[in-house]
Amino acid sequence: MSADSNLHIDPARLWGSLMELARPEFGGTPDGGMRRVALSAWDGAGRDRFRTWCAAAGLGVRIDPIGNIFARYEGADPARAPVLVGSHLDTQPTGGRFDGVLGVLAGLEMLRTLAEAGVRPDAPIELVCWTDEEGARFGRGLIGSGVWAGELALAAAEALTDRDGISVAAALEAIGYRGHSAPGPLPDAYFELHIEQGPVLEDAGLRIGVVTGAQAQAWFEAVITGREAHAGTTPPAARQDALVGAGRIVDLVDRMMRARGQDGRGTVGRLEVRPNSPNTIPGEVRFSVEFRHPSDDEIARLAAQFPREAGFIARDAGLRLDIAPRHRIAAQPFDPACIALVEQAAAGLGLPARRMISGAGHDAISVARAGVPVAMIFTPCRGGLSHNPAESITPEEAAQGCQVLMNAVLARATTGPAGTAREP
Ligand code: GLV
Ligand code: MN
Ligand code: MN
Repeated sequence: MSADSNLHIDPARLWGSLMELARPEFGGTPDGGMRRVALSAWDGAGRDRFRTWCAAAGLGVRIDPIGNIFARYEGADPARAPVLVGSHLDTQPTGGRFDGVLGVLAGLEMLRTLAEAGVRPDAPIELVCWTDEEGARFGRGLIGSGVWAGELALAAAEALTDRDGISVAAALEAIGYRGHSAPGPLPDAYFELHIEQGPVLEDAGLRIGVVTGAQAQAWFEAVITGREAHAGTTPPAARQDALVGAGRIVDLVDRMMRARGQDGRGTVGRLEVRPNSPNTIPGEVRFSVEFRHPSDDEIARLAAQFPREAGFIARDAGLRLDIAPRHRIAAQPFDPACIALVEQAAAGLGLPARRMISGAGHDAISVARAGVPVAMIFTPCRGGLSHNPAESITPEEAAQGCQVLMNAVLARATTGPAGTAREP
């Protein structure tokens, strides 16, 4: 089997699977979006359907203790380290139909194509659906891939809780995905297809992004405390309004981001106001803060500056502020040989492509941290919009990304273990 084979994925089958997992029973919403938050009943239903499809394609499935699902397509040499592909099925609470699920179902489409054609690459190919990439529920993302990579202890991950006090362990049990499979040998390489989630490819009229790495991130949880009091009777000097303090800190985050120019990112995405009553002055606000930047040094500066300046704001307003660092991801370069395979696959298919870094976090970062050679493939999305129910791609874009994925993976799975081409 060579990389430039005539093997073609089935675009209609891929699109049909994508649309099926967007149905209401899997978390689809009337506005065309998704609410398949990690370890929810919808996530459980989506996982179950994915496993049904894996079984129908003849793939053996195993589930590890943090709920990552691995499906295996055997290679001609089963002793070789597998080439791993995958992404995630969980979505944001008001997410789109393609973030994550495209990479999982494109991997499935690739394996369906190989099985149907009876093609057996030298190395096994494994498909993984990672648990909770998004971080929308338990305060941090990349949970499944982080545990798999040894970046996050299993016990610490299981103990994370959501806003209702439900732990990851309990949520895994509830949907039947607290598995037992032991970690296998490290894969030979990992490839992940994902929508770009930004405007670069569409603006440049390109079809494929060859991802060379991902930017750094720093996440925090903050609690600002004032005093609940009557809205109508408490004069200005006596008010300790936690929401006014939080609002000033939201503005600080935005200013710190803008001071970094085009590369700066800073977001307060979640804010819980207590008691959230129109005529009580807010006594407590809990909120998330996250910064991103391509440079580790700049993230270190942002992470040091933010608690200091936010502290001044709280002090001046007579409020108490507690800030806890939650999640830190260093900038992660991907593997030159795997990047080259993606580039060659796009060129071989005549698809205009360019190299770029990822603004979003991805499970590929965790996998690279474990020392596995990694590359990612991006495809365009309309208006660069993601984490939004209106997130949109075309069947053709999905198919092109899937075909690039398959050609790159087959090229890797048919080369010698040292990465050199085998003797014919
Ligand atoms: C994942 O969606 C991220 O936060 O980048
Ligand atoms: Mn994603
Ligand atoms: Mn996402």
